Amino acid sequence: MNMLIFLKVLFCVDIVYSITLTNNSINKSNVLIIFVDDMRHLTEKEVYLPNIQKLARESIQFRNAFAQQSLCAPSRNSILTGRRPDALHLYDFYSYWRDVGNFSTMPQIFKEFGYDTYSVGKVFHPGKSSNFTDDYPYSWTYIPYHPPSEKYKNSAVCKDKKTKRLQKNLICPITVKTQPGSTLPDIETLKYSIDILNQRNRSKPFLLAVGFHKPHIPLKYPHQYLKRVPLSNVTPPNKPYMPIEMPLVAWHPWSDVRHRDDIKALNISFPFGTMPTKWSLKIRQSYYAASLYVDDLIGQLMGHVDNDTIVVLTSDHGWSLGENGLWAKYSNFDVALKVPLIFRIPGFHPKSITTPVELLDIFPTLVDIVGLTIPTHKCRGFNDKSTLCFDGTSLVSLMRNNASTVNKSFAISQYPRPGVYPTINSDKPRLKHIKIMGYSIRTKRYRYTEWISFNNTQFTRNWDEIYGIELYNHILDDEESDNLHLEAKYTHVRQKLSRLLRQHIDPK
Ligand SMILES: *[C@@H]1O[C@H](CO)[C@@H](O)[C@H](O)[C@H]1NC(C)=O
Ligand SMILES: *[C@@H]1O[C@H](CO)[C@@H](O)[C@H](O)[C@H]1NC(C)=O
Ligand SMILES: *[C@@H]1O[C@H](CO)[C@@H](O)[C@H](O)[C@H]1NC(C)=O
Ligand SMILES: *[C@@H]1O[C@H](CO)[C@@H](O)[C@H](O)[C@H]1NC(C)=O
Ligand SMILES: *[C@@H]1O[C@H](CO)[C@@H](O)[C@H](O)[C@H]1NC(C)=O
Ligand SMILES: *[C@@H]1O[C@H](CO)[C@@H](O)[C@H](O)[C@H]1NC(C)=O
Ligand SMILES: *[C@@H]1O[C@H](CO)[C@@H](O)[C@H](O)[C@H]1NC(C)=O
Ligand SMILES: *[C@@H]1O[C@H](CO)[C@@H](O)[C@H](O)[C@H]1NC(C)=O
Ligand SMILES: *[C@@H]1O[C@H](CO)[C@@H](O)[C@H](O)[C@H]1NC(C)=O
Ligand SMILES: *[C@@H]1O[C@H](CO)[C@@H](O)[C@H](O)[C@H]1NC(C)=O
Repeated sequence: MNMLIFLKVLFCVDIVYSITLTNNSINKSNVLIIFVDDMRHLTEKEVYLPNIQKLARESIQFRNAFAQQSLCAPSRNSILTGRRPDALHLYDFYSYWRDVGNFSTMPQIFKEFGYDTYSVGKVFHPGKSSNFTDDYPYSWTYIPYHPPSEKYKNSAVCKDKKTKRLQKNLICPITVKTQPGSTLPDIETLKYSIDILNQRNRSKPFLLAVGFHKPHIPLKYPHQYLKRVPLSNVTPPNKPYMPIEMPLVAWHPWSDVRHRDDIKALNISFPFGTMPTKWSLKIRQSYYAASLYVDDLIGQLMGHVDNDTIVVLTSDHGWSLGENGLWAKYSNFDVALKVPLIFRIPGFHPKSITTPVELLDIFPTLVDIVGLTIPTHKCRGFNDKSTLCFDGTSLVSLMRNNASTVNKSFAISQYPRPGVYPTINSDKPRLKHIKIMGYSIRTKRYRYTEWISFNNTQFTRNWDEIYGIELYNHILDDEESDNLHLEAKYTHVRQKLSRLLRQHIDPK
């Protein structure tokens, strides 16, 4: 440990924010963080992912883990800084948080505490939101690696059965040998990661973040995985239509899906047209096949991981597969927010936890596990410019089976909209077009959402200007098909959740 860096961290944090970082108990275990892109919480009923399931059996598995926003850049920056999108002012792809506040990232803290930190594949969202450098050199010891074949990610390489042409399809099983460079980005990412894991000459512990690209669309994967999910075994969503009493602002037109060549040819009407059932099944099949492909790569990666390495696996957000008539991310629905979250920690007994948790919690949890002791300290609102504070909480006491020390039993997420009626930019509004923010709170039993007026220059909310309210009862309606907010018998629940949500986002 570089004493100077250590004292600098200690000084900044201690004097200004009264957090103490100590390294007296640091075990300095190696840390591997696996990010899967756009992988929702998949149940065994949908598809059995043998390698992720094996990892889960050896781990602490959170069965109700939620992203803070169902869009790559805001979610990843939130995970990696431990702050909500509101603290980073990032709800799209086009700003860098260090221009808002010089907030430290998880890899940066590990680096400052003597780790070698590596980014391989998609960890930060590339581009402006990580200053075109994946936040190197602040976060990473080495220049982040991007697989060269990533440049072909949107190439027309999908053989269309109907047209016999090579197209930019959504559904895109391929033969690896015939691809440009005879490989795929995730295969290159795997190889590069294994080389790092196999280095035996290191003098420092490492934090290795590996970001796989699939099952993000296009659903491009080696065709043999298709055989493992026969179409006859694929089931459609139970409720493939708009929820009863759903406010229009909750809807998004999944434009990226409808603009792929194969889906475009179906002429689905904008913005409310639904996917033909046959295609729903085919997309679900390919999403599962792409997930099996990543699962296989994760299995290969795990074959090179020592058993005393801490392993975390998660995804940036979920994905709707036709539930509620919706596809892709871009919403506050459970399927778009719920993700796998697995911690394999030496010395911690495997278990499965259903308490709702947030991806924000990963940063304080990891810091806690390796022994950088940070007493529970929350950011003081979204304007807290300290270089290090947490909007989330360490999950270690939950993991150690001490529920009494964990107060939070809900997860909060959000999604912006340019207006109430679904338009071409409702999926991914740019900051300057955002007029409404949907804040959503999930308890074990309910999901409650308020869509309210949002000021995109002041980053303030008006809770009195409401564009839509949703309340779903997950005990009765796991697919969120029936909005109960108007039902008299839920008045009390609605009021209570509304209070909790408002208190948490805009504490008085
Ligand atoms: C932190 O740990 C390193 C060894 O890993 C040690 O050299 C250093 O003195 C420790 N610093 C403090 C303040 O305890
Ligand atoms: C460090 O590792 C030792 C041996 O594995 C263990 O007994 C101890 O509890 C660990 N310390 C922390 C802070 O995790
Ligand atoms: C931001 O933080 C980094 C890392 O601690 C530091 O190197 C840099 O000088 C800081 N930038 C500003 C503008 O304070
Ligand atoms: C972001 O990148 C630009 C261009 O390389 C650089 O001038 C700027 O200092 C970077 N911002 C920060 C906060 O490091
Ligand atoms: C370890 O060996 C690899 C090559 O096998 C080399 O690239 C790397 O720089 C070495 N690391 C150290 C810390 O010596
Ligand atoms: C979609 O529209 C085009 C042009 O209007 C037409 O040629 C095609 O047959 C339509 N496809 C379907 C599936 O309806
Ligand atoms: C880790 O692996 C070593 C060697 O394979 C084995 O002896 C040890 O029991 C394993 N420890 C755990 C906690 O699985
Ligand atoms: C739970 O946490 C409390 C407060 O930290 C502590 O007093 C208690 O002993 C813990 N219980 C268990 C079973 O670890
Ligand atoms: C839980 O809440 C109680 C009362 O509000 C507070 O005293 C305690 O410190 C909290 N515990 C944690 C772990 O935040
Ligand atoms: C946002 O707030 C500023 C300052 O109060 C105000 O000038 C501006 O009109 C507001 N914008 C919207 C869209 O209400």
